[in-house]
Amino acid sequence: MARRALITGITGQDGSYLAEHLLAQGYEVWGLARGQANPRVSRMRKLLADVQVVRGDLLDQGSLISAVERVQPDEVYNLGAISFVPMSWEQAELTAEVTGMGVLRMLEAIRVCSGVSRGSSSRSGQIRFYQASSSEMFGQVTETPQNERTGFHPRSPYGVAKAYGHFLTQNYRESYGMYAVSGILFNHESPRRGAEFVTRKVTLGAARIKLGLATELRLGNLEARRDWGFAGDYVRAMHLMLQAAAPEDYVIGTGRMKSVRDLVEAAFTAAGLDWEQYVVLDQTLHRPAEVDLLCADPKKARVQLGWEPTVSFDDLVAMMVESDLRLLSNGGDPDQDSSWP
Ligand code: NAP
Ligand code: GDD
Repeated sequence: MARRALITGITGQDGSYLAEHLLAQGYEVWGLARGQANPRVSRMRKLLADVQVVRGDLLDQGSLISAVERVQPDEVYNLGAISFVPMSWEQAELTAEVTGMGVLRMLEAIRVCSGVSRGSSSRSGQIRFYQASSSEMFGQVTETPQNERTGFHPRSPYGVAKAYGHFLTQNYRESYGMYAVSGILFNHESPRRGAEFVTRKVTLGAARIKLGLATELRLGNLEARRDWGFAGDYVRAMHLMLQAAAPEDYVIGTGRMKSVRDLVEAAFTAAGLDWEQYVVLDQTLHRPAEVDLLCADPKKARVQLGWEPTVSFDDLVAMMVESDLRLLSNGGDPDQDSSWP
């Protein structure tokens, strides 16, 4: 029988790549989708016709229990979140509820539906749980590069909510013997990345300027450094983590850092433009507390899971610029458009 996976956050970047990967592995894939007429569900359905949809919301405990009862999954991937860091200052309580408490609700749905209780010892036949933890938990880093033992100093309500979900996942593993793991993923991008995140904002901005649809691009802190990889590589790591003999947490990243300035230069060069003529610095885009740098030490994932990233930073940026030039040349609207490459 095909293994069954339930993915929360199916309409997001990672949900789409993970669903494609699991379908290719022969899984029956279900996606949890929220809202009454969520336009992102139809975009997802066009790309992923074989994904079955179950309604539910990370804010609604009963809906998660119903979803787990209906799907009877072997594996649950909890990718749903308010994931845009600046929004977490504007709607801190909502972020805590969805990104933090949502993890508790999903774990409880699994615990209740599978009858797991304190002192359970056998993990066989259990629903395996993946939590989308984040390098944003490291925040003001205490060492570089960051590994599974590096301490957390989150710098945003989002990072704090993710840290809660991370520790709770560990706690359910320790308290109930659940097969529950966290992937501490560093920034990962793709042509399906939301237009609000800096990589896509820059590749879209360069493509718009190249096509004469814009004359400038406004950005905040160009000095921030991140470890950027390709989302398609990172969803393979999520799946590998749930196939391991024992549940453990892993850091996933490339081990290479680039600045926002490097990103801008690479994207504008890929579009055949000189960035200094078009980029405008905008203080209002700076954050109340910044994460200056993030850089992964992915050694554990490489040794224990055999995971390696396959797409370089330059190839990733070029892939995104090319995709955005194609999308805009065909009259697509990245904010509204129902097409996804
Ligand atoms: P994304 O594109 O922003 O997708 C977020 C998903 O969460 C969307 O499908 C959204 O659904 C869903 N969601 C929001 N509120 C929800 C709610 N109340 N109930 C159920 N679902 C809800 O994020 P992503 O880049 O794919 O990231 C996936 C996960 O990995 C997130 O948890 C993110 O925090 C984490 N993460 C991402 C990165 C990265 O660099 N991409 C790095 C580390 C960790 P709607 O369409 O209904 O809004
Ligand atoms: N979004 C954005 N817009 N960021 C900008 C801008 C701008 O105009 N100008 C500079 N930046 C800088 C931000 O200050 C930040 O330091 C960096 O670019 C990256 O910002 P984002 O792309 O918004 O990503 P993030 O690092 O805050 O968060 C992403 O990665 C996390 C993992 O480290 C998100 O995907 C999170 O959900 C994820 O957990």
